[in-house]
Amino acid sequence: MTTGDRGDLATATAHRAWDQCWGTEEGRSDWLVPESEVVSVASGLRAKGARRAVDLGCGVGRHALCLASLGFTVAALDGSEAGIAFARNAAVKAGHAIDFQTGLMTDLPYADQSFDYVLAWNVIYHGDREVVQRCLAEIHRVLRRRGTFQGTFLSQRNQHYGQGREIAPHTFILEGVSDKGHPHFYCHAAELVKLLKGFEPVSLIDREQLQPVSYHWHFVAERL
Ligand SMILES: C[S@@+](CC[C@H](N)C(=O)[O-])C[C@H]1O[C@@H](n2cnc3c(N)ncnc32)[C@H](O)[C@@H]1O
Repeated sequence: MTTGDRGDLATATAHRAWDQCWGTEEGRSDWLVPESEVVSVASGLRAKGARRAVDLGCGVGRHALCLASLGFTVAALDGSEAGIAFARNAAVKAGHAIDFQTGLMTDLPYADQSFDYVLAWNVIYHGDREVVQRCLAEIHRVLRRRGTFQGTFLSQRNQHYGQGREIAPHTFILEGVSDKGHPHFYCHAAELVKLLKGFEPVSLIDREQLQPVSYHWHFVAERL
């Protein structure tokens, strides 16, 4: 079972598909090793005294565990109960005390300005623009002033942009393709900067992830 059946934003449904994925060894296999860019940014922040971190859409916990091992006090949230269960078990085995919660990225169960660092890796584009905006407003609320927000968006250079059914502007469902049966929102750089209202971009680059033409925006931003 997953969350998301309580009258939430209609296109914020991806966690249900990910719940299936996280239930199998094969589904988890590409998502167990932390991204080097995350390790690099998080290590730098720790060295400068950042302490409280949250991993939004933590999946099976690769970054939450990594942040805990770097010495952060870590909270982690995901809409998939299977993901949270796997991550919680891995944290216990590794001896990390992480505050895991099942919940939606559009309605965060955290106090205002309670984190120095928010990570949302390959998460916030799961929905239409309204979902993305709602999630960004929540991230802005829970991050302290001058805190760091690291994440990714889907780029319009991505090979899947424009494919499938457009259910809202720049939001597509790739029906029939196994892990893409839920909405994805794609943006260009100007749109991304507009969406990041209330944040100052520090770095922004369009990168291929794993496969050719799988472009994603990788960014680091500071909360104003
Ligand atoms: C591509 S996976 C990335 C997982 C993790 N960030 C990582 O890099 O390993 C996307 C994750 O976002 C979660 N997710 C998608 N939509 C969500 C929502 N509306 N609320 C909470 N979690 C969501 C999914 O359940 C899934 O675990």
